[in-house]
Amino acid sequence: MKNAAQTFGILTSGGDCPGLNAAIRAVAKAAYGIYGMNVMGIYNGYKGLIDGEVRPLESADVSGILTRGGTILGTSREKPFKASKDSEKPEGINKVEAIKEAYSRYNLDCIVVLGGNGSQKTASLLKQEGLNVIGLPKTIDNDIYGTDITFGFHSAVDIATEAIDRLHSTAHSHNRVMVIEVMGHDAGWLALYSGFAGGGDIIIIPEIPYDIESIRKHLVKRAKGGKAFSIVVVAEGAISVEEAKLSKEELKKKRKNDKSPSRGYAIAREIEAITDMDVRVSVLGYQQRGGSPSPYDRVIATQFGTAAVELLHEGSFGNMVAKVNNEIIPVPLEEVAGKLKLVPKDHRVIRDARMVGTCFGDD
Ligand code: F6P
Repeated sequence: MKNAAQTFGILTSGGDCPGLNAAIRAVAKAAYGIYGMNVMGIYNGYKGLIDGEVRPLESADVSGILTRGGTILGTSREKPFKASKDSEKPEGINKVEAIKEAYSRYNLDCIVVLGGNGSQKTASLLKQEGLNVIGLPKTIDNDIYGTDITFGFHSAVDIATEAIDRLHSTAHSHNRVMVIEVMGHDAGWLALYSGFAGGGDIIIIPEIPYDIESIRKHLVKRAKGGKAFSIVVVAEGAISVEEAKLSKEELKKKRKNDKSPSRGYAIAREIEAITDMDVRVSVLGYQQRGGSPSPYDRVIATQFGTAAVELLHEGSFGNMVAKVNNEIIPVPLEEVAGKLKLVPKDHRVIRDARMVGTCFGDD
């Protein structure tokens, strides 16, 4: 067996999500309780290593936090490897060097990183720098490569589905088209699952560019069939067929000149321009990331946490804990880093949604 970790640090990085505290609790409890390891809390993500915000995480700190939203460790979007003026602190300290110094100053044998895509990439780069790291996949976007599921996703699906349910009754009463925008810049997992669970009539995800004419036809067909209201679930990264033909730069320029505050509003305006329907928009926003984790997220966050402690004990560093085909397994960080898990166009849920009459704006 390789060397087991005796002392390790734990941090949460990137956007918060429900289940972070459940995972912190699981890591700490299993580490003290089963293996007698020392756990150091690193505050505010990678920034805490750079700024020396590191202190022992006591068992009292992790008591009673299973159900609590957010993260007791705080978080930041610090990217220490990002090439910019920012990679040097004002006093001229290189951030990566500062992290390496902190790693040895606090006698860490490993850093456990609870993070999304960007944070797993940083973890992989730190591995290349010679540090021991273990990743845990968190994000409401469910877009981390190498794992079927991330914790936070199910809670966000619950929240978005409840919002869709509530919009349904008001849309029905007023015979309105309700556009609900949910999070997901690159990946449409949240829009797909909440839209499917909430019976959305039209679901627009970034992976399937939409044709406004297809949306119009579907709305008119429903109205002719006696349903004068509709629910349109839009991922915040939704893109039209025309926009999909543009280069990244051209799209950026187009979006800059766009008068709509977000994609939900843009699609609502397009619908209004070509129909006489009454359209309203609801942007769900940060509620999707807040509050108590769902039971499912509590379960996987805890299981990911205990699996990380087994890896710490085995000295199996450089991996992200993942759930693949219902098994919890380690995946090498370099296989995960820099990749996105997008919704495949032939995903089973898309197929099933189409079978119950859902439109994806592409037919
Ligand atoms: O956590 C991921 C995510 O929710 C994205 O879907 C969203 O675009 C982003 O975070 C926004 O977060 P922030 O405003 O904190 O950067």
